[in-house]
Amino acid sequence: MSKYIIRGGEPLCGDIKIKGAKNSVLTLLAACVLVDDVVTLHDCPHISDVDTMIAILRRLGCRIVRNGDDVTVDSRDISCEKIPSGLASELRSSVFLLGSLLSRLKKAKVAYPGGCDIGLRPIDIHLSGLRELGVRIIEKHGYIDCDSSKAHSADIMLDLPSVGATENMIMTCVFLDGVSVIRNCAKEPEIVDLQNFLNRTGAKIEGAGTGVIRIEGVSSLRGTEYTPIPDRIVAGTYLIGAAMCGGELCLSNVNPEHLSSLLAKLPKSACKVTCARDKINIICKGRCESIPKVETTYYPGFPTDLQTQILTLQTVSKGTSVIVENIFETRFKTVPQLLKMGADVTVNGRTAVVRGVESLTGAEVSATDLRGGASLVLAGMCAQGETRIDNVYHIDRGYEDLSQILSSAGVKIKRID
Ligand code: EPZ
Repeated sequence: MSKYIIRGGEPLCGDIKIKGAKNSVLTLLAACVLVDDVVTLHDCPHISDVDTMIAILRRLGCRIVRNGDDVTVDSRDISCEKIPSGLASELRSSVFLLGSLLSRLKKAKVAYPGGCDIGLRPIDIHLSGLRELGVRIIEKHGYIDCDSSKAHSADIMLDLPSVGATENMIMTCVFLDGVSVIRNCAKEPEIVDLQNFLNRTGAKIEGAGTGVIRIEGVSSLRGTEYTPIPDRIVAGTYLIGAAMCGGELCLSNVNPEHLSSLLAKLPKSACKVTCARDKINIICKGRCESIPKVETTYYPGFPTDLQTQILTLQTVSKGTSVIVENIFETRFKTVPQLLKMGADVTVNGRTAVVRGVESLTGAEVSATDLRGGASLVLAGMCAQGETRIDNVYHIDRGYEDLSQILSSAGVKIKRID
């Protein structure tokens, strides 16, 4: 099992180029199944979730070539509609293939999806949306068996603005005759990216980024090349790292608009942020003031995927902070690891009260999920002494070359396998 060993206390200084967004690339790979042609996605990060999604697509009969940051997907010979539990259980995004498989093959058999252990993560909204579109669904033996031979366009309302459910509905409606309307949609940038990609292949979708999306059915889609949006969560993680350790970072290939809720929260007394079109420069000096309250919510509000990272910043800020996690039920699982490092955090249900301490101290800790693991790295970077983090495979799911990138920015970090 790989570990990170970090000696804290160094500032974070350097230039970091952000890669394509994990949560866009995974969805676009699923959307490639809709295209009876060849698609090339550029700027794809080398992370294990992308590797897993590629393995799933290959099992379905897609031919895939990875060349550097480019992933070329040829879906012309796709033949299998079943995603085995071994692969589906590793990845939440496997459920996104329901929509694309149903549109392309009129049937899909997907095992219940996996993903980070941050909550129940039901798929009831996905399934109720599919049923409203006339998809016949049988759930048994841990599989979801779907048939869309009698599917039809419809006007559907999602109970919650679920990112995955919105993406699944879009992909299910692409070839349905007439106009389908999806209401109470998620507004995340990754949804807009999916719309832009599919429209590039010939789909007719409008409204992504708002609460109402309209899809006019077309007969087929053609191949294309596409560059996904940058990873706002990876970028936000590095910005929070600079706020914790001090230093000066220049992030390139970022969209400041996608990070507006974080940039609004970073304490202006210690963090000087300047933004250009696709760059964010941050200079951090001194200890941050605590942020009185952070509540995670749907985009464009503060993202749940940066909650553990901002909580970790609060553990070493001046004052007390209240963090409320409104999206997932158990996304404070990293707190016990932070307590080992001397943090002062009290969790009660969906609320964490964080009393900032002068400094954390290095300890042996374990990553429990992707963003929690990245947060432990940030904690180790600013703690006194040495921090050892195991189970770093969680972090490999969403952060490419984390130790090399941080090391090049002045952090004393090494990975031992
Ligand atoms: C996507 O997950 C992201 N994953 C998550 O990122 C992200 O945290 C989440 O959106 C919220 O932004 C990918 O895109 C691969 P949801 P998703 O459906 O689609 C409830 C990361 O770290 N819900 O928007 O699964 C659900 O329980 C990962 O990169 C239902 O109740 O999230 C949650 O409380 C973690 N029923 C809320 O909705 C459903 O059918 C939002 O979940 C679906 C969701």
